[in-house]
Amino acid sequence: MVYPYQIQSLSDYKKAYQQSVEDPENFWASVANHFTWHKKWDKVLDWNFTDPKIEWFQGATLNITENCLDRHLEKNGNSPAIIWEPNDPNEKPRILTYSKLHEKVCQFAQVLLNNGVKKGDRVCIYMGMIPELAIAVLGCARIGAIHSVIFGGFSAQSIADRVEDAQSEFIITCDGAYRGAKDIPLKNVIDDALIGNKTVKKVIVYTRTRTPISMLKGRDIWWEDEMRHVEEMGIHTIPAVEMNANDPLFILYTSGSTGKPKGVVHACAGYMVYTNYTFVNVFNYQPAQIHFCTADIGWITGHSYIVYGPLSAGASSVMFEGVPTWPNAGRFWDIVDKYQVNILYTAPTAIRSLMGYGLWPLQGKNLSSLKVLGTVGEPINEEAWNWYNEQVGKNKCPIVDTWWQTETGGCLISNIAGITPSKPGWATLPLPGVQPVLVDDKGNEIIEMEEGVYKGNLCIKFPWPSLLTTTYGDHERCRTNYFATYPNLYFTGDGALKDEQGFYRITGRVDDVLNVSGHRIGTAEVENAINMHAGVIESAVVGYPHDVKGQGIYAFIIHNNTESDESLTRKDIIQTVSRVIGPIAKPDKIQFVNGLPKTRSGKIMRRILRKIAEGETENLGDITTLLDPGVVEEIKKGYI
Ligand code: WT7
Repeated sequence: MVYPYQIQSLSDYKKAYQQSVEDPENFWASVANHFTWHKKWDKVLDWNFTDPKIEWFQGATLNITENCLDRHLEKNGNSPAIIWEPNDPNEKPRILTYSKLHEKVCQFAQVLLNNGVKKGDRVCIYMGMIPELAIAVLGCARIGAIHSVIFGGFSAQSIADRVEDAQSEFIITCDGAYRGAKDIPLKNVIDDALIGNKTVKKVIVYTRTRTPISMLKGRDIWWEDEMRHVEEMGIHTIPAVEMNANDPLFILYTSGSTGKPKGVVHACAGYMVYTNYTFVNVFNYQPAQIHFCTADIGWITGHSYIVYGPLSAGASSVMFEGVPTWPNAGRFWDIVDKYQVNILYTAPTAIRSLMGYGLWPLQGKNLSSLKVLGTVGEPINEEAWNWYNEQVGKNKCPIVDTWWQTETGGCLISNIAGITPSKPGWATLPLPGVQPVLVDDKGNEIIEMEEGVYKGNLCIKFPWPSLLTTTYGDHERCRTNYFATYPNLYFTGDGALKDEQGFYRITGRVDDVLNVSGHRIGTAEVENAINMHAGVIESAVVGYPHDVKGQGIYAFIIHNNTESDESLTRKDIIQTVSRVIGPIAKPDKIQFVNGLPKTRSGKIMRRILRKIAEGETENLGDITTLLDPGVVEEIKKGYI
């Protein structure tokens, strides 16, 4: 496949950027022309940020799976679409060519139809990183069902909340998943999530670990049996359902500053065009290259840069079931060597964790196939950037630092591999179509530099094709969360700097959202979970700098302690959070306190707690407005 819209030089980038700002409609129409449509659009963009209304390619119809599969069959049917590396390096890898993947997706789509799934139905997917996860996702898209993938690290309670919020009647899962030395009993977790549930009609179960599980008659069915029926019916291909450009393609739940995760909705056409455009451009993808994104498909990175971006571009996408450190810390490098990976896209937290093992895991591994490295999910510190550049890229691979969010669907600010310059720690320039602006707390654009940089809250003033269209079942929430803080701007929740060259550096969240190992967690969510534990009276959660995770979770808790052993209470609280949200939200530090710093109106002053959690004892700022300034001294003394 060739990509006529691929940027080839710095002047190309400048030209594309300029056109994308001056004439966005024609710019995106000329990209969109290179896709397969049933019917082309009447209007490229219809928008306002007040409702908000964001509709790209209005009037067009399409199916994303025809763009990800069918259109590659003639020329690239035999080239690998998914290269799957199992958790255990001794197990056989699986390679699914475009022809094979097309067949499996069609057959699974037929399984869904046979079980009563219709266009517009919400289907929850809770699986490990196996090819069947991609088949399930694409199978839904084939028939216009809306997938909602739930990361395998979420608890039964989190699943129940998501099933309920989306009113899902169908679930696709596995008996279990392998992750490093652990077997995760996915089906058991689903069973717990569905206790008392009356709306789920079918649970389709794929066999991966052959862990003993219960199968409820009438509700639970085996993936393999269903696929056999379809095979026996002689079905190898089915037509793709024609979707409107702005029909929802999927829901993905993400945390915000309130207690309840929200269902970010992406629409079929815009999401397809933008993930493809950014995949091809940011990584400078060349036909036949091997792309390895180490994310989990449970997160947006996996949706956009393991599945939809690469497959719509006809690329070969590596999918890895396991973890970077099992059976040893050389796992990524073995995979790069084994499959001659050309593009490696991972998270700073993974790099920092691997750095900690020294250089032996890299020894004897041939990494010479690498051409481009990428990072995503959090700011990258200079030490990790240098290590990645020197030890992995051998100083010859550009590193793209891609800044984006679940809501943005694809990368917004990033250098373009080998084409625009990089600067360690800086995401650098906006991609074509993206118009960032830094504002102060009142929403005024920052026009004066301070110490050589502009500093403010990062907003975007014009839509790009993969901007979220709504939050599922609650459009008002979408408005208040993203479009109401500053009128006529999309607010990202991040703070940023901009230098004299126009390069951006993301400094981190300015709202009550934490970024732990690249996972987004709301402090209110963790507090709610902690407060569910018996004996907890009140809690406040803040982030603190953590060497490997980027941010750690620090909880200040008031507890009516009846037990003499504090460490047991701590363990119980951690267990509670694990149950309510999932192991990813477990506090790293718990400090028991007698009081929290509150203003006279009863608001917790998190600013003070954040400082204390960072180990700062001197400059806590003004504490005179506190109801009881004495609590601060006590909290400082108890710092752990
Ligand atoms: C938040 C979004 C984008 C997919 C993975 C995370 C932070 C993301 C970077 C980066 C600095 C980054 C931001 C953002 N973030 N990429 N390159 N540099 N920070 O998606 O869970 O929606 O989280 O991750 O704070 O708002 P997400």
